[in-house]
Amino acid sequence: MDTVITSLDAGEFRDRLPEALGVYVDAMGYPPQVIRSRAPAWMEHSHRDGWSGVAAFESPRRRFLGHARGPLVAICYGYRGAPGQWWYEQVARGLGDQGRQLPTDYVELTELHVSPRYQGRGIGTELLRRFLADRTERSVLLSTPEVPEEANGAWRLYRSLGFSDVLRAYRFEGDARPFAVLSRSLPLTQHGGSREQPS
Ligand SMILES: CC(C)(COP(=O)(O)OP(=O)(O)OC[C@H]1O[C@@H](n2cnc3c(N)ncnc32)[C@H](O)[C@@H]1OP(=O)(O)O)[C@@H](O)C(=O)NCCC(=O)NCCS
Repeated sequence: MDTVITSLDAGEFRDRLPEALGVYVDAMGYPPQVIRSRAPAWMEHSHRDGWSGVAAFESPRRRFLGHARGPLVAICYGYRGAPGQWWYEQVARGLGDQGRQLPTDYVELTELHVSPRYQGRGIGTELLRRFLADRTERSVLLSTPEVPEEANGAWRLYRSLGFSDVLRAYRFEGDARPFAVLSRSLPLTQHGGSREQPS
């Protein structure tokens, strides 16, 4: 099945929220009850300053009508980081313990998930590139669970786009798992993860 990738405005995202949360629990391997518990947070995020999102949809090719937008199969969103946000304060605490500070001008990549059936086709990479292409902040920050040898799709994707370590094995309040916080300066170049070096 073909897919189509498009930006979502916050209203469209809220309309598609149950589907987006469905993709999230499938991708993360969480039980379906998690959809209900995360819905208020995702809804609230969509009202934050600088929210933007990109999604992939199944796109059945219709004779004469071209591509249609079918079920949502991948979601990527984030917003401008700011004091007072839970994630900002958590990361600020981790950095503060090391005498460091959060950058003042960053976008938080909050969620990036591709339905398992659609993984490994470049959709996650394309969603993240499209998401970052429209951002005006000087950098992007995210957190991802630590995994041995950084051996999963998320780590490979972030490393391939040039993300580097901000915090490692960090414990967010209320979650026993260690996380990494990663960042990347913006803008991304068109090809490859790294900024082009002047020759
Ligand atoms: C992380 C995640 C979003 C990546 O999405 P994805 O669509 O599978 O990623 P991509 O297809 O762009 O890249 C994955 C692999 O496909 C390969 N690939 C890229 N473009 C491709 C293409 N056109 N055709 C085939 N394979 C391709 C990449 O090289 C990559 O290979 P690798 O994993 O061996 O390095 C997805 O795996 C996911 O949802 N995981 C679970 C949820 C999760 O961990 N989210 C992040 C939490 S922080």
